[in-house]
Formats: sequence, C-alpha cells, structure tokens
Amino acid sequence: MKKDLITISDLTVEEIDQLIEVGKDIKDHPQDYQEVCAHKILGTLFYEPSTRTRLSFTSAMMSMGGQVLGFSSAGNSSVAKGESVADTAKTVECFADIIAMRHPKEGAPYVAAHNVDIPVINAGDGGHHHPTQTLTDLITISLEMGRLDNLVVGCCGDLKFGRTVHSLIMAMSRYANIKFVLISPDELKVPENVKTEILDANGIPYEEVSSLDEAIPKLDILYMTRVQKERFFNEADYLRLKDSYILTPHKLKNAKEDMRILHPLPRVNEISTAVDKDPRAAYFRQVQNGKYIRMALIMKLLGLSKEAH
Ligand code: CP
Repeated sequence: MKKDLITISDLTVEEIDQLIEVGKDIKDHPQDYQEVCAHKILGTLFYEPSTRTRLSFTSAMMSMGGQVLGFSSAGNSSVAKGESVADTAKTVECFADIIAMRHPKEGAPYVAAHNVDIPVINAGDGGHHHPTQTLTDLITISLEMGRLDNLVVGCCGDLKFGRTVHSLIMAMSRYANIKFVLISPDELKVPENVKTEILDANGIPYEEVSSLDEAIPKLDILYMTRVQKERFFNEADYLRLKDSYILTPHKLKNAKEDMRILHPLPRVNEISTAVDKDPRAAYFRQVQNGKYIRMALIMKLLGLSKEAH
C-alpha cells in the first residue's frame, strides 16, 4: 500500500528516528545516494510561494539522480482556469512517481493523496501542518544537541498561524521529558485544540508567557517564527503584532551557552542579522539539513534504499 505524509503523526517515532539516521548518513556520504532515484520523477505542486521547501525538494531529487517537474504558483497552471486539486493531482500522477504539494487551504494535500495511487507529501497546507519542516527541525535538533529528549523547547512569535510550530509540538511531544515554553502575544497564542489534543492529552508540561526575556534563560531550543502576514484578515492587526519579538545579541546574553536558535525561515524582523554569526544560530544549517531529510523521505516513500543501487 502506498504511504503519504500529510501530518507528522503519519510517521511513528521509530520511522522518524530511522529517517533522521538516513538523513545523517546522506549528509556524511552523499556519494552513496547519487543514483538512488534514477528514472524517478518528483512533481512539485506549489500553490503558495516557497523558497526553501520547493528548492530543497528539487535539490534532494536531483542529488539522487531523479528529475523534477511541476509549478511554483497556481497562476502558472490550469488551476487558474478552475481545475480542482483532485484533477490536478490525477493529471500529475500520469507524469510523476511522487508528489510534494503546498496549498493555502488546509486539507488540500489530503484530498490529493486520496485521489492518486502515488505518494503525496504535504509541503505545507494553510495554517495546518508542515511535516517536512518538522523533520528538518528534528534532524537539526538531533545534530546540534545530540538528543531529541530531555529538552526545554521555547516556541516564540506567531504560535496561532505558524503551522511549523503545531507540527513541531506534535512531534516533540512523543519524545521523553520535553517541556514547552510558548512565548507569544495574547492574540497569537497556540490554538486551543493543539493544547487540549496534544499537550494536555499527553500530559506534556508547558507554560504560556509573553516575555521572551524572562523565558530565554531556561531554554535549550529557541524556535523563532515570523508573524504570518498572509493569514491575517486585518492589516492593522498585522502591523501592530509583527514586531512583537526581535531577537538581538543583547537578548542572547542570558541564554544558555549551548542553546540553539532555530527558525523555519523566511525571517522578516524577528531575528536581527547580527545574531547570524553567533554559533548558537542554527537556522541556515537547518535549511541544509532540510535537503538531507527530504532525500531520506523521498527514498522511504518510494521504497528505495542505497543498498539496492
Ligand atoms: N520553511 C519554509 O517552509 O520555507 P519556504 O516557505 O521558503 O518554503
């Protein structure tokens, strides 16, 4: 039976750990994977803008000898003429072996997955989920900290619309002894369903605070996020909230020496560029890791391994 990745909960912890191990092996021995996807085609259907996700999927497939087709905006395809997600996916299935889809509407990749016989990867659906970003975050934390358990994880910024935060909470809640510090303005708190269905349901300790300065000394991971302009109904609210948190070298003075700063990117103002040279700033290493973990994921969903090549 074909396997899709729509939410991070489609993968068991064992499967995630295995993907991370393969991702690390790819990082160390890329030459072993050069032909793994020869004659395979990835369809990238991006109905929403993307730099990292689309290009890392593309680079991942090309680095394994595969090829890529698709569109980078709905306006460049027959979606502009009113074609449905299901029909678009069924069409691409005629030309590709696996699909990565980003869509502004929650659930669109799920609809695609249920209409085709090839694997579908959710590359971000509205404010809902972004599981390959989560895999990227997890491999980065594992590489930087040497573990995925016993961590205090601070999520800061737009925790309401930030789909990467929802997926990260869902994933990290399955590891031992994780505590979350949720740092946001009142209007951008984590949605109630994430608290009740994931955190409360699994007895995961968390606190909700508004001050980054007060939270920062206790964190092992600081996961910064951008205020999601495109999901606001009202521009005045966005303008009022967009600069709620700006991480600067001064703010890092009270952070642990081995804390790591992650950000799914793109950033707007929430991390000063002066932070980039701090060894704790892991966000561009995180981008690179996104390619390795997507290579591991594509191989898994296509049932391929380096041993078979
Ligand atoms: N992190 C992420 O999803 O970045 P892009 O929107 O550039 O793909």
